[in-house]
Amino acid sequence: MLFLHSLGRWAVLGGLVYGIIRAYRGWLGNQPFTSLDNTVRHSVATVAHVQLMLGYALYFVTPLLQTFHLRDTEHDPGTLFFGFQHVVVMTVAVVVLTIGSARAKRQPSSAAQFRTMALWFTAALLLIFLAIPWPFSPLPNRPYFRFPF
Ligand code: HEM
Repeated sequence: MLFLHSLGRWAVLGGLVYGIIRAYRGWLGNQPFTSLDNTVRHSVATVAHVQLMLGYALYFVTPLLQTFHLRDTEHDPGTLFFGFQHVVVMTVAVVVLTIGSARAKRQPSSAAQFRTMALWFTAALLLIFLAIPWPFSPLPNRPYFRFPF
């Protein structure tokens, strides 16, 4: 599960960056919102939802958090990060992404669809980027890739 969740980060980031590039290009270049744009919009949200579900599943089985209770004040930074900050920021990010995706779908013009997708997806990307435990993070950090063996 940890392997899949670690790998899922790259799928979410790759999809978001691709979706954002298409959205800004379409918005600033005044292009029509095609069915491919719609598929990208929808797929990015789906991949993020799968990652979110994996995260919640992991939350309940990981040995790291077996004794974690938010009301306890004596948490080491690792459990506080994964038990609280990571979960909250990632959940908010996927909610932002989902709202953006849903609103983009309902806009009356291509420009408005691209603009909505560009802005909401960018906000979601920033939040996700901040809450990933990067190897260079001053907060708890993890490797870029996790292997299943
Ligand atoms: C877009 C959303 C998310 C991304 C990109 C993401 C990314 C990551 C990454 C890169 C790691 C480090 C993996 C490793 O150690 O190799 C991680 C760990 C973890 N994530 Fe997430 N995460 C997301 C959402 C969530 C959510 C919503 C939850 C819980 C509800 C969650 C729970 C956890 C837990 C518990 C760990 C640590 C597990 C352990 O070390 O045993 N994640 N996440």
